[in-house]
Amino acid sequence: MGGQVLQLQDVAVRRDGAALLRGIDWSVREDERWVVIGPNGAGKTTLLQVAASLLFPSEGSVEILGERLGQTDVFDLRPRIGLASAALSERIPPDEKVIDLVLTASYAILGRWTEEYDSHDVTRAVELIDQLGCAHLIRRRFGTLSEGERKRVQIARALMPDPELLLLDEPAAGLDVAGREDLVRRLGALARDPKSPTMVLVTHHVEEIPTGFTHVLLLRHGSVVDQGPIDAVMTQENLSATFGVPLHLDRGQEGRWYARPL
Ligand SMILES: Nc1ncnc2c1ncn2[C@@H]1O[C@H](COP(=O)(O)OP(=O)(O)OP(=O)(O)O)[C@@H](O)[C@H]1O
Ligand SMILES: [Mg+2]
Repeated sequence: MGGQVLQLQDVAVRRDGAALLRGIDWSVREDERWVVIGPNGAGKTTLLQVAASLLFPSEGSVEILGERLGQTDVFDLRPRIGLASAALSERIPPDEKVIDLVLTASYAILGRWTEEYDSHDVTRAVELIDQLGCAHLIRRRFGTLSEGERKRVQIARALMPDPELLLLDEPAAGLDVAGREDLVRRLGALARDPKSPTMVLVTHHVEEIPTGFTHVLLLRHGSVVDQGPIDAVMTQENLSATFGVPLHLDRGQEGRWYARPL
C-alpha cells in the first residue's frame, strides 16, 4: 500500500446554479490505477480538473499529493501532475515541433523559446516519444498530426516531468480501432509498471480500459454510483445504472471489458 495521492471529502462543484459534482468522497493511493467512467455530462472532466488543482471545489476538501487545496501554492503542485486532455491540445501552437513540445514540458510552458536543454532531457523526451509509438513523428509540427497522433504526443508530454500523478481525459477518443488497441496496450504496459505514476483515466467506453487498471469510479449526474476495486465494482447492474440503459457486460480472457445493449 502506497501513500495517499488524492483525498476528496464531500466535494461539490457548482456553476451558475447547477451542481456539476456533489457529495464526492474519493481517495486514491500511490499504487492504484483508476478509471473514471460515466456518460456525457456526468462530471468526469470536472472531477479531473479538481484532481489537477485547476479547479477549486465549491464545497468539501481536496488533498492532492499531500497538499490541501486552498492552503498550498498550486504553482508548486501543478508541475507534479501530468495532464492530457482535449482542452490542453487546443492550446498547443500548431507550428510547435513534437520534440520541442515534449521537451518544454520540463519547464511547464507551451512554445519553445530560448531555453537550453541538457542532454538528459533530450534523451528522456526521445525515449518517451518512442514509448508512445511516435518516433517517426519527432520532427513533425503538432498542427500536421492526426487526432490519434496528437493524443500520443500529449501523453508523452504529460510524462516528461516525471509526474507523481498522471491524469488522462479520454485518451482513446477519436482513434480508429487499430490506433485505440495500440494505445490501450501501451497504457496497460504503463499501468503495470510499478515505476509509473499513479494514474487516473477518464473514458465513456469499458472497451478502453487497459489491463493493469485496478480501481473504477462510476459517475452519473455529478454523483458517484459506485467505486472501488475494479473486479467488485464493474458489474452489469452498476454499469447499466451509470449509463441509464440496460447493458450486458462481458470480460475477455485477456482481462478486457466489453459492453453492449441488452
Ligand atoms: N459553467 C457551467 N454552467 C452550467 N453547467 C456547466 C458549466 N460548465 C459545465 N457544465 C455542465 O457540467 C456537466 C459536467 O461537465 P463535464 O465536462 O465534467 O462532463 P463529462 O463527464 O466530462 O462529459 P463528456 O463525457 O461529454 O466529456 C455538463 O452537463 C456540462 O454541461
Ligand atoms: Mg469530459
